[in-house]
Amino acid sequence: MPGGATITKRLEEAADRVTVALDTLIPRVQGPEGRLMSAMRYAALGGGKRLRPFLLIETGRMFDVEERCLLRAAAAIECIHTYSLIHDDLPCMDDDDMRRGRPTTHIAFDEATAVLAGDGLQTLAFEVLCDPETHADPAIRIALVEQLARASGPRGMVGGQMMDMTADELGDDLAAVTRMQRLKTGVLIQAAVSMGATMGRAGDHGAHMLNTYAHDLGLLFQITDDLIDVEGDQELAGKTLRKDQTQNKATFVSLLGADQARARVSHLAEQAKGHLGMFGERARWLSALVDVVANREA
Ligand code: IPE
Ligand code: IPE
Ligand code: MG
Ligand code: MG
Ligand code: MG
Repeated sequence: MPGGATITKRLEEAADRVTVALDTLIPRVQGPEGRLMSAMRYAALGGGKRLRPFLLIETGRMFDVEERCLLRAAAAIECIHTYSLIHDDLPCMDDDDMRRGRPTTHIAFDEATAVLAGDGLQTLAFEVLCDPETHADPAIRIALVEQLARASGPRGMVGGQMMDMTADELGDDLAAVTRMQRLKTGVLIQAAVSMGATMGRAGDHGAHMLNTYAHDLGLLFQITDDLIDVEGDQELAGKTLRKDQTQNKATFVSLLGADQARARVSHLAEQAKGHLGMFGERARWLSALVDVVANREA
């Protein structure tokens, strides 16, 4: 198994390459739309763990997919994620002024620009996926578009965000909270893995096992986000914490308490790694990532 330092380096390298890809895909422009592109660049190039890109890239690498294709698809999913963060931080949603250690996009620019920058990143993602540069086979390209659209749409991230906005009404319904967390966060994490598997023509059984891995990782990821909100260090997290309780959000931590939430993280981590058994050493980076996410502070 790779040691902690090695996975850290692997994550950093992937993050740097995705940032370069995003830099090319979101060019600086002159003229009236220059402000929009600046806001999109501000949000997309300013940090972030690049976890979804890493998952897509490492899954694709398991099946020897060309790196330049993986980087384009990885940039596309990061555009969707970044758009979701810009909108999540808006005053009409979570009303946050810090993100990735810097002022949120609507603070650095203004609300209208932030809404448009989110819209721009969302549509750019699909433009990138439709380009033959992303994959030579049009059937693969349409599958990628479908997976990302589903994961980010009303039956995915946007649907989950709607549930989150009314999460105070969920009360102590653990099943409903689990579904909300799955939709708002889990399905996009699953899409990252399934897009990599699709590009690599992983086959039904392989794709299924990767999907169950990503299912557990997605849930684990949101529980750790909720734990960080309650007990994390704001400097490390780069965003305002202790907000879920103030905003009366139902989370795993509010329902189960921190200790049980942590126990659930450990259980999901073991389960997620277990699903990778059939891939042996080929899945070592996906496996190592589980521990990074389970122990993360940001
Ligand atoms: C934060 O996502 C929002 C959630 C889905 C919980 P990340 O923790 O992946 O944010 P960045 O991309 O690293 O900033
Ligand atoms: C955000 O969840 C999920 C999406 C952006 C889809 P949170 O609201 O918990 O994320 P943070 O804590 O602001 O990063
Ligand atoms: Mg939110
Ligand atoms: Mg938020
Ligand atoms: Mg949160």
